[in-house]
Amino acid sequence: MSTIMTNPWIHGGPDSLGAPRFDFSTNTNACGPCPMALAAVRATDATLYPDPQYTVLRQRLAEFHGVVPARVLLAGSSSEFIFRITAWAHQQGVRTVHLPQHHYGDFARAAQAWGLHRSADEAGALSWACEPSSPLGQAHAGWCLDTARLTVLDRAYAPLRLSGTSSLSDAQLDQVWQLFTPNKALGLTGVRAAYVIAPANSGAAVDALQLLAPSWPVGAHGVAMLLAWVTPEVQAWLADCLPVLRDWKARQISVLQNLGWTVQPGDAH
Ligand SMILES: Cc1ncc(COP(=O)(O)O)c(C=O)c1O
Repeated sequence: MSTIMTNPWIHGGPDSLGAPRFDFSTNTNACGPCPMALAAVRATDATLYPDPQYTVLRQRLAEFHGVVPARVLLAGSSSEFIFRITAWAHQQGVRTVHLPQHHYGDFARAAQAWGLHRSADEAGALSWACEPSSPLGQAHAGWCLDTARLTVLDRAYAPLRLSGTSSLSDAQLDQVWQLFTPNKALGLTGVRAAYVIAPANSGAAVDALQLLAPSWPVGAHGVAMLLAWVTPEVQAWLADCLPVLRDWKARQISVLQNLGWTVQPGDAH
């Protein structure tokens, strides 16, 4: 049965008192913001609606991931898509959710909103995975691609991976819904935009998920950020961040260990 939280609105980052001086909870890239992405967002023309089909953006994201554009779905944010795919799963008759022990709270909130019960049995469930995991940055344990009704892999921290590799092969990744939110890696979490690579041969499901979205789920600033995300300049900037983050992480671990803390291993920043 569900052990879902009763106060669902607690997040890290800013609150009614403003931005915290030190934020260890949102896991945004500490080297950010990415100057090129920030400039693109600032330069965007906010007087116009984006293309409602996001044709160019979906094409660019598809090229970036080596998939056909029909597999690319735009979302207002990861959080928005988490609710949308939970709604769709419910529409398909799914009534249980399978969650990692530690997880981003919206997985459980969305399940609660749609009356899905948390179950240790993954058979027929909406199964969530996050790798590198949140908050520990570790490999996901307990994949159930063959038994779950659908698996959604939250890849928020994949671009900020500092060690290790994905547990899933390319063929296995083709079986899951991959959710990407580049605002973390770009240090632009205030820009709300994300995208999904749907499993191969999931055309009907993609259509249904598009039907569940309002018009223009991503605004002009989100489009600018996602278009910037796939450019070689921004990817080169991100690649340059990784050794810096590795160094900062090693220094932080050493400080904590000198204070007598036990630090859990993790592959992310
Ligand atoms: C694992 C994970 N997924 C998704 C999100 C939210 O992403 P978005 O900003 O796209 O809503 C967070 C935010 O903390 C997160 O930690």
